[in-house]
Amino acid sequence: MARRIDIRPVSGALGAEIRGLDLGADLDNSTMASVREVFFEHGVVFFMDQDLTPEQQLSFARRFGGIDVNKFFEQVDGYPEIAQVRKEPGDTANIGGGWHTDHSYDEDPAMGSMLYARELPETGGDTMFASMYAAYDALSPGMKELLDGMKAVHSGARAFGPNSKANTENRSAQFRLSEVAENEVEHPVVCTHADSGRKHLYVNGGFTTRFADMTVEESAPLLQFLYQHAARPEFTCRFRWQPGAMAFWDNRCTQHFALNDYHGQRRLMHRVTIQGQRPSA
Ligand code: SIN
Repeated sequence: MARRIDIRPVSGALGAEIRGLDLGADLDNSTMASVREVFFEHGVVFFMDQDLTPEQQLSFARRFGGIDVNKFFEQVDGYPEIAQVRKEPGDTANIGGGWHTDHSYDEDPAMGSMLYARELPETGGDTMFASMYAAYDALSPGMKELLDGMKAVHSGARAFGPNSKANTENRSAQFRLSEVAENEVEHPVVCTHADSGRKHLYVNGGFTTRFADMTVEESAPLLQFLYQHAARPEFTCRFRWQPGAMAFWDNRCTQHFALNDYHGQRRLMHRVTIQGQRPSA
């Protein structure tokens, strides 16, 4: 029998807390179908008060698809499918401290990411999310028409390429810098979500480098406008972490931003990313 789930939207644009579920339990298919529906509707879902082993986090993630192992992040000891998102008390830089969409540099970007709080600062360390449906919907008809046929180039080079400055920043968690990050892929600037059928913007400041068939300089003004537009406060929500909280976001139609406002304290999160498919217009 399906478990009753209690859904509490957290903002007008996106995000909902799902109450009443123990993610470590063997949830039946009908309950999972309800979770999936809420996830597609709200873009990011939050579960509080969980007590998960790494195996349980992985089992829950596998109910949504195969695991997409991150090529650049430090892994959790003994669990190569779980990436560490870690900031130590002596660090000044954090991971994910800018608006981005996980793995958009891949041909088949991750469908979603599950972030589980293992150790939290006393205050700060919230994560912000933004709805790329809301960002697209709010564009003028003229801008939509312009963007609809366009493609953009994405690459992990700035963040994870051999010349990236990432590992010289004051951060203990080191990336595995690699030439693989220099691969470029093209994705439509406006995509149609494979599950909801809705259109959303798909460019992000972390990994989009330029529009296809244009230079970086030519692309910059319009890309900058789109990044600023996408981060308008009314398209966002902000999640305050608590011990045992888990966030699960849809990488296709959202961006996120990890706030770096807890210097001198430790924050450790376990992230599992779920395989996706090539975005289409
Ligand atoms: C990430 O960008 O995946 C990390 C987000 C966070 O640590 O809040």
